[in-house]
Amino acid sequence: MRAIAIDGPAGAGKSTIAKRVSAKLGYIYVDTGALYRSVGLAAITRGVQLSDISAILQYLSEIRINIRYVDEVQHVFVNDEDVTDRIRTQEVAAYASKVSALPEVRQFLFDLQQQLARENNVVMDGRDIGTVVLPNADVKIFLTASVKERAKRRYKELCEKGVEADLAVIEQEISTRDALDMNRDIAPLKQAEDAVLVDTSDLNLEESVAAIMKIVAGKLD
Ligand code: DC
Repeated sequence: MRAIAIDGPAGAGKSTIAKRVSAKLGYIYVDTGALYRSVGLAAITRGVQLSDISAILQYLSEIRINIRYVDEVQHVFVNDEDVTDRIRTQEVAAYASKVSALPEVRQFLFDLQQQLARENNVVMDGRDIGTVVLPNADVKIFLTASVKERAKRRYKELCEKGVEADLAVIEQEISTRDALDMNRDIAPLKQAEDAVLVDTSDLNLEESVAAIMKIVAGKLD
């Protein structure tokens, strides 16, 4: 099986780009952030305090998280409930970032991610795919963009959806999440030594996809 790992900070365009790359290659796309978001949502729904490790272990033992593909789109299920849309809020993102710092949560999701890569050709995106989950991935990309550019993209996305947004607040949220993801003790966001850095600050979607396809072609040949 082949694996392409794409890591990077929130809002760098990982999921949009990874989806395009996976479609071109005929691989499945695995959005691992969605798994952490599902655990975050389950914690919010149950009112679990993040400081209460025994409550966390208890709820982890009660939830089953699965991925299924519907028309080639990844859907995430928590105990057979499709939470794909519900996990897309800023509240869940912030909670996901917090629960993802817990070793129990990372271990809980580790096996699922490895199993997906054992059974399928994958383009997998996240924060620690090239460093921890798939250290032997065939291709590793570290995808980033400036905080300003990432905030602008998110702002535009929300405006297009008709959601009221404040650029300065978004920039602050992105910086906070970067700091949390990069400074946690376990599996922090960082570029793997053998990952290729792609900065999309000055690239549009097509140019970003082309840059990655070129790297992939060079590595898989
Ligand atoms: O990619 P995303 O914004 O959907 O991820 C939500 C949070 O999940 C992110 O802030 C950190 C965490 N995460 C992680 O710790 N490891 C991953 N492989 C993917 C996401």
